[in-house]
Amino acid sequence: MKYSIATIPGDGIGTEVMAAAVKVLEALAERTGLEFEFSLLYAGDEHKERTGVALPPETVEGVKASDACLFAAVGDTAKEVIIPLRQRLNLYANLRPVKAYPGVPAINPDVDIMIVRENTEGIYKMIGDRGRDYGFNVRVITREASERIVRYAFEYARRNGKSKVSAVHKANVLDYTDDVFLEAARDVAKDYPGIAYEEVIVDACAMKLVLSPQQFQVIVTTNMFGDILSDEAAGLVGGLGMAPSGNVGDELCIFEPVHGSAPDIAGKGIANPVATILSAAMMLEWLGEKEAADRLEAAVLKVLEEGEVRTPDLGGANTTDDVADAVIERL
Ligand code: NAI
Ligand code: MG
Repeated sequence: MKYSIATIPGDGIGTEVMAAAVKVLEALAERTGLEFEFSLLYAGDEHKERTGVALPPETVEGVKASDACLFAAVGDTAKEVIIPLRQRLNLYANLRPVKAYPGVPAINPDVDIMIVRENTEGIYKMIGDRGRDYGFNVRVITREASERIVRYAFEYARRNGKSKVSAVHKANVLDYTDDVFLEAARDVAKDYPGIAYEEVIVDACAMKLVLSPQQFQVIVTTNMFGDILSDEAAGLVGGLGMAPSGNVGDELCIFEPVHGSAPDIAGKGIANPVATILSAAMMLEWLGEKEAADRLEAAVLKVLEEGEVRTPDLGGANTTDDVADAVIERL
């Protein structure tokens, strides 16, 4: 099969981890008979500095025209780039798997959670105002988007043999909005009698993730809670350099590492490319190439397990490129 893959390297370590992921995908193609046609799309701080816009229309069109898109990271223009891309392309589900990896320090080796975050509304709708001494953001929660995301979570659970879905909310305080979310969640849960459904308040969830993360299998939640909990959860299993994600809609997708442009380490060639490579594996699975996805993930796990080649965030002294080469060797 031949796939057109749009790439958006962005800023900082974005360009470094993207180069590593593309190199690995090219090596995978050679070994599997898959064909990837990569296109390069621009977005981010540097593009804005050069042209005045952070997200040019060609980039939005380029994602639409591709079979799948891999995005690395942008800097301060994140809210002008990735948030609009998610909303405009209706990539309503943000998938953030959190797994303990072999050979990587984790708070609990049994962590295996899929966080399904609503990706189009909530407080990231960017509706608000700013006066000199005050500001506000409006939190928008709709029945339609809530049902859609909870159904996605239950379908994910069903396909992957998971027995419980946890809806995370703050309805005890944010009742106008989270009552809508929970009512939708309860109704959708009724369609899945074989899967347990529970409700967890977000602050308690944050604590439980640290104390006993193994109690969670699939977490479904609104936009900002999902953003925060997934970064927290990433910290339980080796940090942001390890955390992949996907933004998926009914037809389009953008897969991306959870991390940003990491200005503190940009340009040094030491960013961990694992999050981006695992995002590429998720992308392959979404494309229906499960075998290639598994092969890529297995190669990454092998490198981690062996523990000989690793970037400084994991306590090693290797470069981004060393890790890419090690993964390629184990493909
Ligand atoms: P960040 O994710 O860029 O970095 C947080 C910390 O994790 C830093 O110490 C960094 O060195 C480390 N880190 C992140 N990725 C790593 C990797 N692959 N390997 C090794 N270490 C890694 O988040 P931060 O510092 O809050 O934001 C920096 C910039 O990134 C900001 O301008 C922000 O707006 C942007 N950002 C963009 C995102 C996106 O494009 N989706 C997401 C998050 C932040
Ligand atoms: Mg985040």
